[in-house]
Amino acid sequence: MNICVLGVGYVGLTTAAVFADLGNEVICIDIDEVKLENLKQGIMPIYEPGLKEIVLRNIAEERLLFTTDTAKGVANSEVIFICVGTPPKESGETDLSQIESAAKNIAKSLNSYKIIVNKSTVPVGTGDFVRRTIEEHREAEVNFDVVSNPEFLREGSAIQDTFEPDRVVIGAPNKKVALKLLELYAALERPMLITDVYSAEMIKYASNSFLAMKISFANAIAQLCEGVGADVTVVTKGMGADQRIGKQFLNAGIGFGGSCFPKDVESLIHTSGSFGYDFKMLKEVMAVNRSMVPHIMTRIDELVGDLNGKIIGILGLAFKPNTDDIRESKAIDLIKELLDKGATIKAYDPQAMELTQEVLPTIEYCSSPYEVAEHADAIVLATEWREFKALNMERIRNSMKTPIMLDGRNFYNPDDKTRLGFTYYGVGRGVFKPQ
Ligand code: UGA
Repeated sequence: MNICVLGVGYVGLTTAAVFADLGNEVICIDIDEVKLENLKQGIMPIYEPGLKEIVLRNIAEERLLFTTDTAKGVANSEVIFICVGTPPKESGETDLSQIESAAKNIAKSLNSYKIIVNKSTVPVGTGDFVRRTIEEHREAEVNFDVVSNPEFLREGSAIQDTFEPDRVVIGAPNKKVALKLLELYAALERPMLITDVYSAEMIKYASNSFLAMKISFANAIAQLCEGVGADVTVVTKGMGADQRIGKQFLNAGIGFGGSCFPKDVESLIHTSGSFGYDFKMLKEVMAVNRSMVPHIMTRIDELVGDLNGKIIGILGLAFKPNTDDIRESKAIDLIKELLDKGATIKAYDPQAMELTQEVLPTIEYCSSPYEVAEHADAIVLATEWREFKALNMERIRNSMKTPIMLDGRNFYNPDDKTRLGFTYYGVGRGVFKPQ
């Protein structure tokens, strides 16, 4: 099938690469010429495992094309995916300006019937907005349909998630359009759900908000566990063993970040408000999430004392492992709090240091976790990169000023650390003294 993808961001690039790999002809359109030139040279705009290989393979096999020419992409395609950014406004409402400009550009280039698919995360009703915008701006009386096809990929596992989604949701205005999209996705051999457009738009926000709620629930339980002397990792394991609850997204820690959960929960709160429903439950999800960095700051305060002049080492800066993305990263929030209290920060992340330097230019960036540990009064693990699992902890302990470890992701075993002489703190597990 001939496909056009508008917007070469996380979702757009991954979607385009995967559809091309399945044998479709894909034209990617973006306004950023430098980004497109880099892509042609194999320089990816984001770090995502496996992405570069698949992009390069499909460029070489001439199934993946990058251009700034919207007219060319639209004219040559049956299906047009809108994958542009939908950032939040100050109020939590979603900014649809990029969607609007994509719709206007499509309108100007419409030359024959097209299926226009919204893959960007957009509030309910955006399908109607896209339809109206195209109707108002099209230059020829050409027919088109607008579909909602939300994306559920996660950063860090985007390629695998796109090849093997739990479900493909197709919110279509009629059966004919639904069948066309089913045909496009058939090669994945995954469960597909055909819905109306509004329901598909809601599924995306309801799913992300529910997952965020699971994390905040685990984090609220974690704070209680510390009070009562329970271990949250054991509690959530016990909860997750019930299939009705499920074990995923119950890891307590310093909270959720990234470009999706915080923005999408706020957006759903905003949408609910505009329909007269005060979604207090989701407001509390955000409040619990905001409370996690102050919570760990209290523990740092108890274990390290006055932070003025103290050296705190930070392991991990990205909002999660396997990405260089630092948007809404809790590690960054934590560092800002520590700097405010007068601490000196040494940090290491396998991928995210370059981007972090732009927002935190004054902290010390290290070449390894071992350099982070040198003379540190405490270390905080903020992102659970796999390479932090099997570090030489004796070496780390010996080079620290005081062997205090705060585990913001419950990544380590407390007994292993205390046996080596660390004072260890885990979120929802409490403080463990050296044995
Ligand atoms: C999330 C969803 O998981 C995807 O399904 C969705 O497509 C995507 O948003 C989106 O809307 O585009 P993503 O933000 O890439 O994906 O990352 P997640 O793996 O969901 O993690 C989000 C945050 O939650 C991270 O900061 C992570 O550390 C945190 N988290 C996750 C926890 O604190 N505990 C958990 O148990 C799981």
